[in-house]
Amino acid sequence: MPAKPMPAQPVPAQPVPAQRSAQWYAGTDRNAYIHRAWMRRGLPAHAFDGRPHIAIANAASDLAPCNTHLNEVAESVKQGVWEAGGVPMNLPVVSLGETLVKPTAMLWRNMAAMATEEMLRANPVDGVVLLGGCDKTIPSLLMAAASVDLPAVVVPGGPMLTGTFRGQPLGCGTDVWKLSEQVRAGELPEPAFIASESSMIRSRGHCNTMGTASTMACMAEALGTTIPGFAGTPAPDSRLLEGAHAAGQLAVELVAEGLRPSTLLSQGSFRNAIIALAAIGGSTNAVVHLLAIAARLGISLSLDDFDRAGAGVPLLVDLQPAGRHLMEDFHRAGGLLAVLREVQDLLDPDALTVTGKPLVQHLADAEIWDTGVIRRRDAPLQESAGIAVLYGNLAPSGAVIKPAAATQSLLRHRGRAVVFDSIEDMHHRIDDPGLDADEDSVLVLRGCGPKGYPGMPEVANLPLPPSLLRRGVRDMVRICDGRMSGTAYGTVVLHVAPEAAAGGPLGLVQTGDYVILDVAARRLDIDIPAAELAGRKPSAAMLAGFAAPRRGWERLYIDHVLQASQGADLDFLLGSSGPAVTRDSH
Ligand code: FES
Repeated sequence: MPAKPMPAQPVPAQPVPAQRSAQWYAGTDRNAYIHRAWMRRGLPAHAFDGRPHIAIANAASDLAPCNTHLNEVAESVKQGVWEAGGVPMNLPVVSLGETLVKPTAMLWRNMAAMATEEMLRANPVDGVVLLGGCDKTIPSLLMAAASVDLPAVVVPGGPMLTGTFRGQPLGCGTDVWKLSEQVRAGELPEPAFIASESSMIRSRGHCNTMGTASTMACMAEALGTTIPGFAGTPAPDSRLLEGAHAAGQLAVELVAEGLRPSTLLSQGSFRNAIIALAAIGGSTNAVVHLLAIAARLGISLSLDDFDRAGAGVPLLVDLQPAGRHLMEDFHRAGGLLAVLREVQDLLDPDALTVTGKPLVQHLADAEIWDTGVIRRRDAPLQESAGIAVLYGNLAPSGAVIKPAAATQSLLRHRGRAVVFDSIEDMHHRIDDPGLDADEDSVLVLRGCGPKGYPGMPEVANLPLPPSLLRRGVRDMVRICDGRMSGTAYGTVVLHVAPEAAAGGPLGLVQTGDYVILDVAARRLDIDIPAAELAGRKPSAAMLAGFAAPRRGWERLYIDHVLQASQGADLDFLLGSSGPAVTRDSH
């Protein structure tokens, strides 16, 4: 059954108020006096003479280690804003450190987006520079910008430099999984594993694989929301600060031109992002984030669009987790524009960028400087690298798999299910020598969807049983209603929808059932008669995990979150409320 397009809500046409900030600062009445006076604090009087005020939505936080350098980047943005005749305003936003935030950062993406949207609308700003890095920060900022619909430009914080361990490059994220599996397989002593810890994070910046942060920076560029050629600039590279300065200048120009998300972004922009996603072998998390951003704009985008638009797009980038290199190499080799030039014929020629010109017009000078990192179209790493969308009696609303990161021989597979009802259940039993699993088994992990966990954690690449690792097994088919880290790899079917907690058939699978995966046929099925499946009740152990009382954000989230196939946004956040200035209480 094909996925329905997103239930996009109509975006009300909202004229941009002429210089929003003037509605706070212009005039000689008491309110204008209050607004100006409290903001003076050293600002010159001409800061309030009608020039645009530009927010820097800044996801810097000591508790988001990938973003700790963003305050320095913000200083460069500020200089650019001043130079172009605007007034910069630093606006700290909810920041999410992927490795730290419990129970999972994705639980808070929509909250971060909602808070940023509302603070932009509530304050005297005319445009915004979106400053993010770690996984959820750029998606949440783009969702916010789409819904407040103010002129916006993204400054991606950039990846960290390549670390090395024992003479080998170390990719953060991907090599954690590899090294920890080596420990579990008895191939790497634990002290050596611990010794690698300080080598993994060599510098400021976000993960240096083509994980979710790098992918979303590239998605922001493919959508046209960054200065073209900027995404992937390493965090310590001085060109990042130069680009941040230019982005500050550009934000002022965008206000003058009135170019904002609703006028910049189109279906073609999202098509370009999907093609870029396939060509770079990007993270499956981009599927959920792009669906959510599109729905904020009222742009129709479905799960099937990823399969359709990505079909036949070659994998051109040899980066971890699917390949060998890291983001520093990607940038040195030419970056995203060099990749896009190779697939230019597939791109929408009209999709705009923040420069006011179409993306394709920025490709003429793009060069590949190292074909070992970025391949030419006639020598791809894989002929077809798009995300595959699967349907069947296990995933009526769809599931996704990234064939480029999978074991090719497992893409058509029939195996006996070994079912885990929760992450805790999996951790409790996966190392049990008595676990009844062999290399042909299909590991099923449920209770990890948006509502079930709640927050859809990155656990779909569950670890393999040690007994099989010791026998040299390095991949098995795994199925989950959660997500997978963009730095992970394997034959992993994820984002299964509806999730088990929403009554999806994943909750009905029993250990011992046979599951059939056929990626070429785009099918995911449980091999039992329909009548038997219909007569089953969900596992009591699984249901017990969903029964915990919830309050606050978790309550709101569970009651309103949409399924992964719809972007996992909250149902009442779809669409836009626009930039209109609201009532004044003074
Ligand atoms: Fe921040 Fe990977 S943990 S990008």
